[in-house]
Amino acid sequence: MGDRTGIKVFAPASVANLGVGYDILGLCLNDIGDEIIVRKGKKPGLHIKTIYKNKSLSKDIKKNTAGYAAYRLLESLNLTEEPIEIDLFKNMSIGTGLGSSAASAVAGVFGVNSFLGSPYTKAEILRFATEGEQVADGSFHADNVAPSLLGGIILIRDNESLDWTKLPTPRGLLACVIYPKVQVLTSESRAILSENVSLDSVIAQTGNLATFVAGLFKSDFDLIKKSMTDHIIEPQRAHLIPHFAEMKKQALACDALGFSISGAGPSMFALCNNTIIAENIAEKAQQLYSDQGIECECFISEINPQGAIKY
Ligand code: HSE
Repeated sequence: MGDRTGIKVFAPASVANLGVGYDILGLCLNDIGDEIIVRKGKKPGLHIKTIYKNKSLSKDIKKNTAGYAAYRLLESLNLTEEPIEIDLFKNMSIGTGLGSSAASAVAGVFGVNSFLGSPYTKAEILRFATEGEQVADGSFHADNVAPSLLGGIILIRDNESLDWTKLPTPRGLLACVIYPKVQVLTSESRAILSENVSLDSVIAQTGNLATFVAGLFKSDFDLIKKSMTDHIIEPQRAHLIPHFAEMKKQALACDALGFSISGAGPSMFALCNNTIIAENIAEKAQQLYSDQGIECECFISEINPQGAIKY
């Protein structure tokens, strides 16, 4: 078991949905994410000592995604009285659409599991991470936590069993991420979605989803490109993101494989098969949003194969 020196872990940002896989597809990004230090505490139980870079998050274990994910793991091991202290480095802003609350939940549970000498595998802590993220928006889906924890591109068969499959990442696949700094609340972005979907849309969407997965398995960028049209969710959410249609048009004109909303927004992503295309899209995005007086951050990421890591 770890001591007062503690251990440090990192959990990355992620892109959920990937256009055609609402709540069931996600990919892991490089470089940006949240960090946690876990050390032996001075009093019984799990405590959040410090949250760096965000003063608004609760330190109450049951109201904090990192705390609650770790708490659920401790409960399952009958170790809730174990003196454990965590510091959260909340590097990611909240409400970006890049899996910020998921990254915290993953860091919390992965950090405490590592501190305890890894009694569980990563796959075994996925449920605790998903329960942790649920604290943030009330819904139970693993399309951000699974890629953040496990790395790569993850397909969730269903969000009860949390059966998951890591899909192959074609060599050279990149994500260009565009984050216009406007607020889109995940809860609202979910609440506006219609419960009813036409049969035609379901047929079109399932055809695209299955073909997208086939494209990944075959490393066939043409198949991926043909299949990245979301017939169900994007049309209902696009109006939440300023200049979405124009941005998408520009990204596709730059030869993106596909372009859609990252998670619940406001971030967007383009999948690309070379760096020049990704850089062109980032440049167009900077220009478009700066012309509109909207602050915007862009970055280009390979698909992170590892997910959460202990330093
Ligand atoms: N699949 C989720 C959504 C991701 O689109 O609402 C954000 O939590």
